[in-house]
Amino acid sequence: MALLHTLIRRLRRRGALPQNAPHKAAPPLTPALERRIRDSFDEAAADEEHFPATVDPRLEHVRLLVREFTPLGAPRIADIGCGKGRFARVLAGEIPGARLVCSDVSLKMLAHVRPPLSACAASMTALPFADGSFDAAYAIESLEHAVDIAAAAAHICRIVRPGGRIVIIDKNAEHWGRLQTPEWERWFSRGELEALLARSCRRVRSQPISYWADVEPDGMFLAWIAER
Ligand SMILES: C[S@@+](CC[C@H](N)C(=O)[O-])C[C@H]1O[C@@H](n2cnc3c(N)ncnc32)[C@H](O)[C@@H]1O
Repeated sequence: MALLHTLIRRLRRRGALPQNAPHKAAPPLTPALERRIRDSFDEAAADEEHFPATVDPRLEHVRLLVREFTPLGAPRIADIGCGKGRFARVLAGEIPGARLVCSDVSLKMLAHVRPPLSACAASMTALPFADGSFDAAYAIESLEHAVDIAAAAAHICRIVRPGGRIVIIDKNAEHWGRLQTPEWERWFSRGELEALLARSCRRVRSQPISYWADVEPDGMFLAWIAER
């Protein structure tokens, strides 16, 4: 798969294949757009095939979060744009003493979040949590829907205490065009999101990530990791 994507990129550079459509500018985040995004995910909550409520604990995403957050010791962790809380549910069992708070704009997604997980309906562009109230926060394939990406990144960082950890996993702008996307969705370059996180975090880094340890990442997904 990785070889195929390298070949496609080479052919595109030589003009032998059409370029991806250019990455669109984000539309302004109006109340009407916020409603449309929420409604679309409320509807998507019925689609268990594409928006599952469970996740395999062996997934690289889970392993990365466990590695980053376990040293924080019985951490309070926020899952931002949690969907049905599939990652939080696994982390609650894998990280000793972890307390997970799941936040999302879609009430229908949040309806799947059950104790011991806590649920909070909120947009990541206006998180109702106090500064530094978490030891860690993560967002998996949700920041791409925030529209006001800078505001969302600032809130995710703000709610984590100094010395805490932030992990964002999302799609790589270099691969834009590989999937059909709604008009509000944005993908990120490594540098773009690193720069946003660096506004309030230190030791910001990013790396390609695949779903499985024995599958070489093809560059479609990136993980950004930062220390507050
Ligand atoms: C592709 S799903 C990913 C869900 C979850 N992170 C997972 O991997 O299973 C994107 C989620 O982001 C949520 N979302 C979209 N915009 C949001 C916003 N501004 N604030 C919080 N959540 C948002 C959606 O409701 C949806 O549940």
